[in-house]
Amino acid sequence: MKFKKNFFTNNDDIVDFDITDSTTRKVKEFYEKFPFPNYKLNDNKQTILEQGDKNSFAKELKSFIGFNKSMIEIGSGTCQLSNYLAIGTNNEICAFDSSLTSLKIGKKFAKENNIPNINFIRGDIFDKIFEDEIFDFILCNGVLHHTANPYKAFCSIVPYLKKNGYILIGLYNKIGRTRTNFRRYIYKIFGEKITMYLDPILRKIDKNSKDKIEAWIRDQYLHPVETSHTFDEVLNWFKLNNIEFINSIPQCSLFEEPSKSFFDKTKQGTFIERILQQFMMILSRYGSEGGLFIFVGRKK
Ligand SMILES: C[S@@+](CC[C@H](N)C(=O)[O-])C[C@H]1O[C@@H](n2cnc3c(N)ncnc32)[C@H](O)[C@@H]1O
Repeated sequence: MKFKKNFFTNNDDIVDFDITDSTTRKVKEFYEKFPFPNYKLNDNKQTILEQGDKNSFAKELKSFIGFNKSMIEIGSGTCQLSNYLAIGTNNEICAFDSSLTSLKIGKKFAKENNIPNINFIRGDIFDKIFEDEIFDFILCNGVLHHTANPYKAFCSIVPYLKKNGYILIGLYNKIGRTRTNFRRYIYKIFGEKITMYLDPILRKIDKNSKDKIEAWIRDQYLHPVETSHTFDEVLNWFKLNNIEFINSIPQCSLFEEPSKSFFDKTKQGTFIERILQQFMMILSRYGSEGGLFIFVGRKK
């Protein structure tokens, strides 16, 4: 892979670019203490495959990507998704993050589980590191809202995408995250015990996976840099960057056929429909699990 900037290769064989931006450094230090999302104690190739296949979205994404593609996961954290997508394919996968500790964990997992088709690169999303139009897929889930300027971060990754390539971004929703915002107050006042009971993700994590529990609590309730966004903001980001809207979770329109594949083009709905869908997040699993929404687009 060719890069636009100078780098060095550190002891762990991870391509490493300097991080100079002060907000990125702050966030990097945050995730270096508790890498996210981290693995369960007994995770291996088989369990990661099982977990990925159980998640209908991850499974569909993997089957849609297919073979002979290049893909980058920006803000890959400890690289579960990248490793899952690499297993059993010949795709060239690039796991990119500002936290070296997270990448080291992902790389160790790939090495121990014989996953050869994945590269690990440490750098800042704002730095122009890659050549233009080299990836068929760009995934960036749960990352932009932890940067100093989410729109600018989005604009800096779009050029890496090939024409007709797909970009998928996941962001906290301004309305859909209401329940987490409320739990954050509960956490501040009453602490971990009550939050463990109220948070459905924490209830699901095995009590012995202490690092995973701590990573989730810090990510959701103690993050130093966090913003939230709306469907219309992202539609505008897409429009301004020549990206055609394809689909979203939850969907934009109230009247979409539920049986469609996630990568089939769907309706954008009206402004009122989109507002209603975001309010409905509060009452659904999306709202109870953090209010994250996903948009997918295709480069024109
Ligand atoms: C909440 S985690 C999401 C991890 C993974 N995408 C997931 O969905 O589980 C956010 C990740 O983004 C990375 N990140 C935040 N700001 C970044 C930046 N400016 N450049 C590169 N990575 C960044 C963090 O280090 C962290 O691993």
